[in-house]
Amino acid sequence: MDYSGKIKTLAKLIQGSSRTFALTGAGISTESGIPDFRSPGTGLWQKTDPMKVATVTVLRRDPAAFYKANLERWSVFTEAEPNAAHYALAALEREGLLEGVISQNIDGLHVKAGSERVWEVHGHLRTCHCMKCNGRQPFSNLLEQFKSGINPPLCICGGVLRPDVVLFEDPMGEDFFHASQALNGCQLLVVVGSSLRVYPVAHLPERAARLVIVNRDATPWDDRAALVINDSAGKVFTDLMTELKQSSDV
Ligand code: APR
Repeated sequence: MDYSGKIKTLAKLIQGSSRTFALTGAGISTESGIPDFRSPGTGLWQKTDPMKVATVTVLRRDPAAFYKANLERWSVFTEAEPNAAHYALAALEREGLLEGVISQNIDGLHVKAGSERVWEVHGHLRTCHCMKCNGRQPFSNLLEQFKSGINPPLCICGGVLRPDVVLFEDPMGEDFFHASQALNGCQLLVVVGSSLRVYPVAHLPERAARLVIVNRDATPWDDRAALVINDSAGKVFTDLMTELKQSSDV
């Protein structure tokens, strides 16, 4: 099937489903200037070992090194803007064609694009909490301390602050459990920009009656998908929205 045939098929699958979810990964945000983790050659984990910078052990053992390794990249997120794929998912939700977005991303771009129902299963960068007293505060306080040279950023109680993201070795946050429950009766799951290699999120496609994967590279789920489109998310969702508009105008 050629590209335009795939776009038509995707539009039909979405129009024919009464309970559709999107599952997104870092690949949906690369066109917003945020590198992903596993794209050959450019992915973050191609250059850095995540076990050396993104685990709870590293944060506990050497918080200053943890923040030195992560805060540069995280501070880019606050300036990033949603792209056509983020906006398309928000529009699909408004049109009643999408229940919501389950995202592995912590960049907050789905919320910024206007999606109302977003399950951020690996957390987000809006708040942080103290590892000693558990007090919660805006993530911007942590960032400001770091930018003014205070590393590691501290709570007023003297404890080290940590972002409300899910690191390797962390248990999953409550959004993951809510997302898993929401997926009951899911008729169509559209995966966008994820390598589907990190569990437990990579189990979620099992919950869908039908699976579509929009991803530049192959994933371990491709042979179980009803449709695979190996192309850029921004282009696919721009063309999908045009197709949906044309087919609803008839
Ligand atoms: N359009 C479509 N697909 C894209 C685009 C794009 N513009 N850019 C990249 N991709 C694809 C790549 O081919 C890749 O397979 O997106 C996928 C991104 O995969 P990963 O980098 O593994 O990101 P993700 O699946 O979100 O990783 C899951 O791993 O390190 C942890 O916590 C981190 O949430 C992350 C998790």
